[in-house]
Amino acid sequence: MKNILQLFQKPLHDLGETNPEFEGIYSPLYDREEISRFMTPHYESLEGAKAQVQSFDLTKFYYGLIMEALRRADFTKRKQPLKILDVGCGFGSTTFPLLKIFPKAEIVASELSAPMLYELKQKLARHKDKDRCHLLQLNAEELDFKENSFDLIVGAAILHHLFNPEKTIKSCAKILKPGGVAIFFEPFEEGTSLMALIYETIIHHGGFKWLDLSFKIYFRHAVSLWWKMKNPNKSDQFFENLDDKWLFNRGYYQKYAKEYCFKDCLIYRHDESDQPFTHLVQNHLAAKLNKMPKWIFEIIDTYEKWLTKEQKDELITEGGIILKK
Ligand SMILES: C[S@@+](CC[C@H](N)C(=O)[O-])C[C@H]1O[C@@H](n2cnc3c(N)ncnc32)[C@H](O)[C@@H]1O
Repeated sequence: MKNILQLFQKPLHDLGETNPEFEGIYSPLYDREEISRFMTPHYESLEGAKAQVQSFDLTKFYYGLIMEALRRADFTKRKQPLKILDVGCGFGSTTFPLLKIFPKAEIVASELSAPMLYELKQKLARHKDKDRCHLLQLNAEELDFKENSFDLIVGAAILHHLFNPEKTIKSCAKILKPGGVAIFFEPFEEGTSLMALIYETIIHHGGFKWLDLSFKIYFRHAVSLWWKMKNPNKSDQFFENLDDKWLFNRGYYQKYAKEYCFKDCLIYRHDESDQPFTHLVQNHLAAKLNKMPKWIFEIIDTYEKWLTKEQKDELITEGGIILKK
């Protein structure tokens, strides 16, 4: 086992001991129940993980987001080599950009789903830097590394999947080296609530009843899901086996950044354009956009028009969080 994995404080086992396909993936060993509590079937099975790999590739997207976050964190000038933890890495959408941006860094790519790590392992097999990337099956709520282990922690779309993301934030405060930085990319409540209001307006418009059934389902489902996600009690039955549990607001991060003594907490929106709400709808409905009637975009335009740039900066739908130790 490589040195960097020895920063983990519990004994680790190579999953290849019980399943040769998983050789090289280390784990403190979880029981099925714990994994099932956190994972929906599409992350838990090899077929599900493969389907995810085939359905999207966000590597370029995250390369851009990581570079932007590093610039904002003033981290780009750091001296190599670095120790980096990728939390909830999936099949590597952030891992590959990190390997590229930091050519001498050692990276722990961590993820609770062994099938997702298996997919990452397959992709790494063809990669020149595979020896710098160490695969670890790990629950993001239990980052049991030694104090001051990492220079940088990155987590893309992971915190909102957890029951207790504040545990992850607390661990980051412990396992980052002084001066280290944690970067997360997450959905936000402020902008999503405005999106919900836009969608309510669409649902109550006279033209709604003439829409394609798939649009009707999408708008109604989004509003009902976002409403339920506002419930802060994540032990509620509704959240069992639900992937997306949280819509965070600025106050959430500011509260825990202060409580766990981070020196700084920066929050910013990803889409800095003048039309962030239009773009979000376009992303969600990409495949069906040509069937979307004009009046829907006119409604969204009305909201975009009323909001100043400063208000749009406040009303984040998806954004970056930078925590500096
Ligand atoms: C939306 S995906 C993001 C994956 C990757 N970061 C990306 O952006 O492509 C969420 C990931 O979190 C993982 N996950 C869910 N709960 C987890 C937990 N408790 N600990 C670690 N990973 C978890 C899932 O298996 C999944 O790969």
